[in-house]
Amino acid sequence: MTDIPAPAHIRAIAPYQAGKPIEELAREYGLDPAGIVKLASNENPLGCSGRVRAALGEAVDALHGRYPDANGFDLKASLAMRHQVPASWVTLGNGSNDLLELASLALLDEGTSAVYAQHAFVVYRLSTQARGARHLMVPARDYGHDLDAMLEAIADDTRLVFIANPNNPTGTHVPGARVRAFLESVRERHADRVTVLLDEAYDEYLDPDERVDSTRWVREFPNLIVTRTFSKAYGLAGLRVGYALAQPALTDLLNRVRQPFNVNILAQIAARVALDDTDFLAQTYALNKTGRAQLQEGFAALGLDYVPSHTNFVLVRVGDAARVNDQLLRQGVIVRPVAGDGLPEHLRVSIGLPGENTRLLDALKSVLQA
Ligand SMILES: Cc1ncc(COP(=O)(O)O)c(C=O)c1O
Repeated sequence: MTDIPAPAHIRAIAPYQAGKPIEELAREYGLDPAGIVKLASNENPLGCSGRVRAALGEAVDALHGRYPDANGFDLKASLAMRHQVPASWVTLGNGSNDLLELASLALLDEGTSAVYAQHAFVVYRLSTQARGARHLMVPARDYGHDLDAMLEAIADDTRLVFIANPNNPTGTHVPGARVRAFLESVRERHADRVTVLLDEAYDEYLDPDERVDSTRWVREFPNLIVTRTFSKAYGLAGLRVGYALAQPALTDLLNRVRQPFNVNILAQIAARVALDDTDFLAQTYALNKTGRAQLQEGFAALGLDYVPSHTNFVLVRVGDAARVNDQLLRQGVIVRPVAGDGLPEHLRVSIGLPGENTRLLDALKSVLQA
């Protein structure tokens, strides 16, 4: 390969490994795509809601060769209403991943650092590395965020702290009161010099008594960014749309580094419809809760340790995860190896439809007993 000059911190990046697409596995192993089960990318097994599908059909008329609304007026208005904040506090993203990137672009450079937890969402590391900033990875406690240690890890040059709540790939959750106490401590010690990005991609899967009104915290803390996504419970992963809530000073910074047309027309339309489809969201939550119990009970029956999940996936310890993963692939079951997250003995299994979960458990049983 030609040696093109590039900064050392870019060369040091290990690119993001996405879940294997069904078509790729079918090609590689000569399998029928229709028989493949994919439980690898924490998608909604119901797809998107019927109302969204209908709206998208009509929305094709809105394409007509024009750019999308660069400021996403209608979607921001819906989100502002939902969260009871001014629309000027909302930033839209091409998935919430985009917003993580925007935060790192706006706040980090080579003289700064970001704090995040071991086994936290890998994009925190990737976007910190891409800016050439130092990354301060804090050891996990019980697979989750150790907020006390993260507070202590904040250095003079730290500008950004990432918290995934719930976390991917471990499925852990930090109770709201602990997150709030962390926000208070960060402000007390560092005022607004350090921004906390609270990534709530899986918020809709929490039980009602675990949920907090983090929007209220956004009103209280000028150094807080809360991100959410339409990719998971809303089932719009393929359209790429997420959003951030933050006070004007931070929102202004995010907006400076945002691509002008970062959220496409169909995504903007679908997200507005999805936001109002509370029946679909309730159905998704209920299906996930049952599927989570099914998988966790199934893992226990196989004698496998798992991390109790607060999300739409379960992290399970299988021993030689690379071997088990390969055997599962041969049986047409795609899950997610997480060795790159420092978990070489685990696999992350997204919660699917009941029949898909059974396929995975049966395949796992046959692999482990072989
Ligand atoms: C914790 C967490 N944050 C953010 C994202 C980004 O998702 P999206 O860009 O689809 O919103 C993911 C995706 O898996 C995630 O697990």
